[in-house]
Formats: sequence, structure tokens, C-alpha cells
Amino acid sequence: MDLQIKGKKAIMAGGSAGMGRATAERLAEAGVELVITARRKERLEKAATEISTKYGVNVTPIVADSSKPADRARLLQACPDPDILGITIKPPAPNGDFLNVTPEMWRESIDTALIGPVELMRQHIPHMKSAGWGRIVNIATFSAKNPMVWRLMSGPARSALINYTASVSREIAKHGVNINNLLPGMFATAGANEIMSDYADAFGLEHKPEVVGAHFRSNNHIPAGFVGSADDLAPMAAFLCSPLSRFIVGQNIVIDGGQHASLF
Ligand SMILES: NC(=O)c1ccc[n+]([C@@H]2O[C@H](COP(=O)([O-])OP(=O)(O)OC[C@H]3O[C@@H](n4cnc5c(N)ncnc54)[C@H](OP(=O)(O)O)[C@@H]3O)[C@@H](O)[C@H]2O)c1
Repeated sequence: MDLQIKGKKAIMAGGSAGMGRATAERLAEAGVELVITARRKERLEKAATEISTKYGVNVTPIVADSSKPADRARLLQACPDPDILGITIKPPAPNGDFLNVTPEMWRESIDTALIGPVELMRQHIPHMKSAGWGRIVNIATFSAKNPMVWRLMSGPARSALINYTASVSREIAKHGVNINNLLPGMFATAGANEIMSDYADAFGLEHKPEVVGAHFRSNNHIPAGFVGSADDLAPMAAFLCSPLSRFIVGQNIVIDGGQHASLF
């Protein structure tokens, strides 16, 4: 399928690993010029070189934390006029007992998982509106719709994010600018590996792979029978970044192997 995005410009904020990187690769494969961001420089620069070499498109790495105003401003300066904006962030680690969640922890979660993505959208929507075309895709979390008591630092802020995009997407759709959100379930990514020890702490488990694995399986029934890989999400993200998605506005698409049972 021709995604009809060859030659367009995209920012993939959070593009050095996991689902953000896989999305960057699908866009590059379709001929999109990319700016990718992340906080960690070495992995980011390696990803940019690898994607550029593999797909023959320009990939510019910008070290930037989406939750920091000065970093967002530098990104705007480096790429003021993207046609496509993909956003993902890593929320704070899984919380333990909900009674120990402090206001400071909430503020960090909101800065990272809500204000960062909202401000990135706010700084790039005006250009897309005046160009008469744009696509924005947030890779958020299924816990935005499917509350999990150990993911209070991720789900609630993203529930607010999808509430925001539900409104804003309907304001800007008439300008050819669409926002949609992907809500992933359990995926085997670098990021998922990094939170395994926090997951063990959140449930008071021994830090042994077999103990954590058994607990994870008993708490996460995935009807598809496997944990996702980043490429189980990236093709949908690339499709939503294309003109082919012009009638899809303000939607939240859960990609979780069937784990979250709901009609809508
Ligand atoms: N994997 C899962 O099972 C799972 C489950 C539910 C929801 N999710 C959600 O899906 C999204 C993607 O997850 P993933 O597993 O693909 O994550 P990942 O492997 O950690 O990749 C995240 C990417 O975003 C970058 N990033 C993180 N925070 C950033 C920030 N503040 N500013 C700029 N870049 C940032 C990371 O690089 P740096 O770290 O160097 O910045 C990396 O490039 C996340 O929002 C996660 O909460 C994942």
C-alpha cells in the first residue's frame, strides 16, 4: 500500500527505541524525512544513523526531553514546519502502594505524560493548520482507558491527554489536521525491560525473572497469546500519519492483543 507520504517531514518525539523507533522506521520506509528526539544521546544518534542508512532518507537526531520547555523550543527551531508529529514519552516508574503517591510524583507524571505532549502539539499545530494538512499521533497507553492501580503515574495523565485530543482534534479537523492516539498494551521493548525492577518493587516481588514473569502472566491475560513487539503497532501509526486516514479524527485505538475487554 502506498502511504502517499514520500517527501513529507516528520518529527518522531521519542524515536530512538521501542514503538517510537519502529514508527520512525515505517515512516522512513515510506520516504519521509525525519527528525527524531530522545533524552539519551548515544542511543538516539545510533538510531538516526541506522534508520538513515537502511532507508536512504535524512534522519536528524535532536537530544530533547519533551517535558522541558527549553528542549521543546530547540526542537521547534530545528524543525518548525513538520507535516507529521509522532509523540511518545516514558512516564515515571510504576508506583507502589497508592497511599504513598505524593503530589510531587503527580506533578512529575503530569509534566511528562500530559504537558509535554500537549505543548508539543500546541507548538506545531499552527503551522499544520496554515499548511492545510497535518497528522499527529500520540503513542500513549491502554491504561488511559483501562485503569491499573500500579500505573497511576502513567494512566491518569494519559486519560487527560486523550480527553484533550478528543476536543482539539475536532477543532482542527476542518483544516486537514488530524490527531489520533494509539493505546498500547503489553509490548516487549527496551522501555518495558527498564521498568521490570520497578514492577517487582510495586508488587513486593523478589527480583527474579521467573518470579516477575509468573506474576506478570497471572495479571495480564492476553487473548492473542503473546506480548506485542513494536512492529505490531508501528504500521497502524504510519497509516494514521498518512492522507489515507483523513476521515479518522480524535480516535483512541487500543493495540493490546485483546487484553482490554470493552466494546469501544
Ligand atoms: N512497552 C509496554 O509494554 C507499554 C505498555 C503500555 C504503555 N506503553 C507506553 O507506550 C509508549 C512507548 O513505550 P515503549 O515501550 O516503546 O518505550 P521505550 O522503549 O522506552 O521507548 C521510548 C522512546 O521515547 C524516548 N523518550 C522517553 N521519554 C522521553 C521524553 N520525556 N522526551 C523525549 N523522548 C523520550 C526514549 O528515549 P530516552 O529514554 O533516551 O528519552 C525512547 O526513544 C510509552 O508512553 C509507554 O508508557 C508501553
